[in-house]
Amino acid sequence: MEWLNESEKQLSIIDSLHHQLAEAETSAGSKKTYHVVTFGCQMNARDSEKLAGILERIGYVETDTEDADFLIYNTCTVRENANLRVYGRLGQVKKLKKNRPGMLIALCGCMMQEPQVVEKIRKSYRHVDIIFGTHNIFKLAELIQERLATGKTVVDIWKDTDQIVENLPNERKYPFKSGINITFGCNNFCTYCIVPYVRGRERSRLPEDILAEIRQAVADGVKEVMLLGQNVNSYGKNLEHPVTFAALLKQVTEVEGLERVRFMTSHPKDLSDELIEVLGSSEKICRHLHLPLQSGSDRILQKMNRHYTKAHYLDLVEKIRTACPDISITTDIIVGFPGETEEDFLETMDVVQKADFDSAFTFIYSKRTGTPAASMPDQVPEDVIKDRFDRLLSLVQEKAAQASGRFEGMTVPVLVEDVNDHDASMVTGRMSQNILVHFPGSKDLIGRIVNVHLKCSKGFYYIGELTDN
Ligand code: 5AD
Ligand code: SF4
Repeated sequence: MEWLNESEKQLSIIDSLHHQLAEAETSAGSKKTYHVVTFGCQMNARDSEKLAGILERIGYVETDTEDADFLIYNTCTVRENANLRVYGRLGQVKKLKKNRPGMLIALCGCMMQEPQVVEKIRKSYRHVDIIFGTHNIFKLAELIQERLATGKTVVDIWKDTDQIVENLPNERKYPFKSGINITFGCNNFCTYCIVPYVRGRERSRLPEDILAEIRQAVADGVKEVMLLGQNVNSYGKNLEHPVTFAALLKQVTEVEGLERVRFMTSHPKDLSDELIEVLGSSEKICRHLHLPLQSGSDRILQKMNRHYTKAHYLDLVEKIRTACPDISITTDIIVGFPGETEEDFLETMDVVQKADFDSAFTFIYSKRTGTPAASMPDQVPEDVIKDRFDRLLSLVQEKAAQASGRFEGMTVPVLVEDVNDHDASMVTGRMSQNILVHFPGSKDLIGRIVNVHLKCSKGFYYIGELTDN
């Protein structure tokens, strides 16, 4: 059959699987269930919503355990321990499959883009039914169809793609907020990082497709969107009609009914003055910038292929704070990159001292096969890394506690997200700065933006009180 486009083809397969599943359910007398386990970043979380959307449309209903008729692991490979967790889970789930005839197990995501991983799974984890990668998640229905028709393990990994498939179903985890992809892949090749190899070259979506998705999301009740890309600041450079990220962001703020926009991640080398200007121009743009530092040492930054210096980074921070004094800046830092000396590490500590981050995600360098850093000399011994990591973490915590206290006593808008995990009489929401606030309230506040008085800072979060709204 000739298809007008890829999404039509997939929707038609979804339809046919829907009938097949409905028949199977009638004869079994029960609903078929699915469960998606997500590892890693926001990008994966968004991909999982798309996978869930396809499964829901086929007719599976979500369950909160791995004992499901369709189980899928959306994997991450940015650091080695993410891989180890997947192998652990796969070992455990074998028993579940024995007790649940017809159960299907699928694996997808970044880890599957590594040939040695796929080989290991085919050999040692034969209970896996479907394996696919990061470039073809839109094909899930087709892969299920193939598995059911052939009874054989289906493996479909693409090395790269220039294809962006629009208009597939997706199931939002939260009805009031949504991630929106603006770019896929990465062209930066930081020397420690596997992402460019597993997510491919950078591709930007067309502004009109992004805006249409946001308008639809708002019509569905979404109040906050998070624009997603490995390096949002390079958005649009390779489009036929180039558009800057700042220009896109401005257009997004003009979507009627949308209340908040966030974005992630910003690369310091591409963060423009134009963006800094736009940042402060609209109340809708959240006062939060995630700006990965990785290292404070110019020597290490160069070896990492980051294309900025410590001085440039600190300048940027200052410019951003001048334009937008109430902004919260967060960062990522890697400890123990090959060749990192005590002096290099002290440069990183110095930036943490000066930049006043609201929080910093600290990572121990993890060697990723195939990246340039993996074969660099002078890999740092484990005990030295551990000692540096502990010193960095305590400085980060001390600084974060100081920084977050600066909003104490203010009344700020908070988007309520959940009932509090520990106390059902409280709810939890997020400030524009992405800082969590817990306050007494009931679950009907979920999804609303309300004014909350920040009574007391607890370092990483606030305890607040609802004011008259
Ligand atoms: N080892 C440790 N941390 C890494 N990151 C990326 N690759 C590695 C690695 N090989 C961190 C970076 C990045 C974050 C998402 O993960 O700090 O910003
Ligand atoms: Fe990895 Fe660097 Fe690309 Fe971020 S910008 S995904 S750290 S290569």
